[in-house]
Amino acid sequence: MNARLNVNIDHIATIRQARRTIQPSVIAAAMECEEAGADGITVHLRQDRRHIQDRDVELLRQVVTTYLNVELAATDEMLSIAERLGPDAVSLVPESPGEITTEGGLDVAANVGTIRDTVDGLKSAGIFVSIFIDPEEKQIVAAANCGAHQIEICTAEYAKATLGSSAAHGAGKQRAEAELNRIAQAARFADSLGLTVAAGHGLTTKNVRPLAAMPQISEFNIGHHIISRAVFLGLRDAVREMIAAISAARPK
Ligand code: PXP
Repeated sequence: MNARLNVNIDHIATIRQARRTIQPSVIAAAMECEEAGADGITVHLRQDRRHIQDRDVELLRQVVTTYLNVELAATDEMLSIAERLGPDAVSLVPESPGEITTEGGLDVAANVGTIRDTVDGLKSAGIFVSIFIDPEEKQIVAAANCGAHQIEICTAEYAKATLGSSAAHGAGKQRAEAELNRIAQAARFADSLGLTVAAGHGLTTKNVRPLAAMPQISEFNIGHHIISRAVFLGLRDAVREMIAAISAARPK
């Protein structure tokens, strides 16, 4: 079975917010991604509203016909926005002030009470709930105990090891292999607990392949690389390129 691709279009909004103007339109971007075959659209409504704005999510809810996944911090404000807008899925993510991007998975094990309450609230609103975590057994168990439907494995460490000068050989290659093993083990364990398994962060058409070969991973959330490639190829072709990379590596 193929893995779903949700395209994260935060960085379309990053370009728009650089000038506080109306272009490029995240709505047009979402429609281009869907036209190119994306299975869904992902956006992160950050507490600092540095890229995606509340109104973007409202409009996306009206126009996205595939699947709308909104990444949110587990706060009361974000829970009430999700309840009001009703995306298909919410992915709970950590946020720290000043970070350039999400720096790792949510520490569910240390915050079970708050996260369980948020998950309960989202589920009562009929929303599918995913939690973004590092590939660690204790975080997977905690996510299951909080009642999540899905975990999204943070692939940031793996992605980091695949970039840079030592990536093709030496220390980088070894680190990437060790991370892949950790991710594969986590994916199998989560699947055995009945959780759906997604993955994302720092993925490219190259480094996604060994992950796409893991049968338990059924969804990818990928943004920065696709939007970067879109500068040269156009958004539709950048999305198609990623879909092709994932499906070429998928177990038949
Ligand atoms: N998944 C989650 C939970 C994220 O926070 C992000 C970054 O917003 C992504 C996936 C996509 O990461 P990238 O933009 O590096 O592809």
